[in-house]
This record gives sequence, structure tokens and C-alpha cells, in this order.
Amino acid sequence: MSAYDSLLRRRSLSKVGANAPSQTELLRLLDAAATVADHSSLRPWRLITLRGDKRDLLGHAFAEADGGNALKYVSRARRAPLLIAIVAVHRPSGKVAYWEQEAVAAGVAHNLSLLLDEAGWGVIWRTGHLTRSEPVRRMHGLAGNEQLLGWLYVGDAPPGRELRRKRPNPADFLSEL
Ligand SMILES: Cc1cc2nc3c(=O)[nH]c(=O)nc-3n(C[C@H](O)[C@H](O)[C@H](O)COP(=O)(O)O)c2cc1C
Repeated sequence: MSAYDSLLRRRSLSKVGANAPSQTELLRLLDAAATVADHSSLRPWRLITLRGDKRDLLGHAFAEADGGNALKYVSRARRAPLLIAIVAVHRPSGKVAYWEQEAVAAGVAHNLSLLLDEAGWGVIWRTGHLTRSEPVRRMHGLAGNEQLLGWLYVGDAPPGRELRRKRPNPADFLSEL
């Protein structure tokens, strides 16, 4: 499938099944996703996978951050068998601002979402107001120069999903100066 066709076909899936890609499959897809354009090749990103009971740690961190019911947050973190935390790693640079580095990390996540979708997995990128809270940072073991950009929730794509969707009119988003 061409990149053009894959992009037209991709959809976020909020409800996914119990199976997830292995670390080996993820590494294969990441090999391609990591070719994103990267100013000064700083590689300003890393990913952390959460599977099984490890997802509950995220639920508990959300509950601690929000002062809420842990059960509610644990069940939210269990909405997919695999969560992939996207971490922007701010590298010291006199040339490349942090926003550029976060754009690279986001690019890796978008590429990986597309490749997972193309491989038949269901994916949705999730964030929320607790994403950069201290308990959530601590639970992921983030260093001072790291920031979360959210999680890709990944699992089986249900059969018969819609392949085409309503798209924005590109002419509304392109102008000539
Ligand atoms: C940075 C980012 C954060 C997102 N956060 C959430 C989220 O917290 N909850 C959610 O349901 N979807 C989230 N999404 C997914 C969007 O809701 C989804 O892309 C949008 O509904 C369009 O659907 P589509 O991807 O099928 O075009 C996020 C997407 C991105 C790129």
C-alpha cells in the first residue's frame, strides 16, 4: 500500500481487542517510524511499553494525580492490551528549540500509529490533563529533561471497520501568499 493510501485509510480506534503486537514487531515498525525528519539528528524521543499489570501502575498514578477513584483510572488504563508512552527527550542544543524536538517526537508517534494501523492493529493516541502530572512522570521514571506526549493505545482492530471517512477539504487549508 502506498503511504498516500495508508494515510487515507488510517482511523483512530477507541475500542480494541485483547491481542497486541510483540516487542519484536514493534521494533520492526519503529525502525521505519524513526526515520522521521530530525533537525540535527538529536533523536529527542523514546517510547515505553506498558502491558498487563504494568498498566495498573498508570491507573494508580492518574488516581494519585487527580485524587480520584483508582478503579476508574485502572479500567481506563486497561482499555487496550498495549500502551506505548511517547516521551519527548529535550537534548541540549544551541540550534534546535524544544518545540522542534517535540515535533520530532510527535512525528515518530504519528508514523508509528500509521504503521500499526497499516499492519492491521487498532490504535488511538490518548492524552488528558494528567499527562504531565508529577505522579505520572514519576511512574514512568522520567528524567528532568523528559516530557510525556501521551500514549498510543494499541490492540486488535475489530473486523469490518470503516475504511473511508469524511476528510477536511484540503483547499480550506492551503493558501498562496
Ligand atoms: C496529540 C493527540 C492527543 C489525543 N488525545 C486523545 C484523547 O485524549 N482522547 C481521545 O479520545 N482521542 C485522542 N486523540 C485522538 C483523536 O481524538 C483522533 O485522532 C480524532 O478523533 C480523529 O480521529 P481519526 O484519528 O480517526 O481521524 C488524540 C490525538 C492526538 C494526535
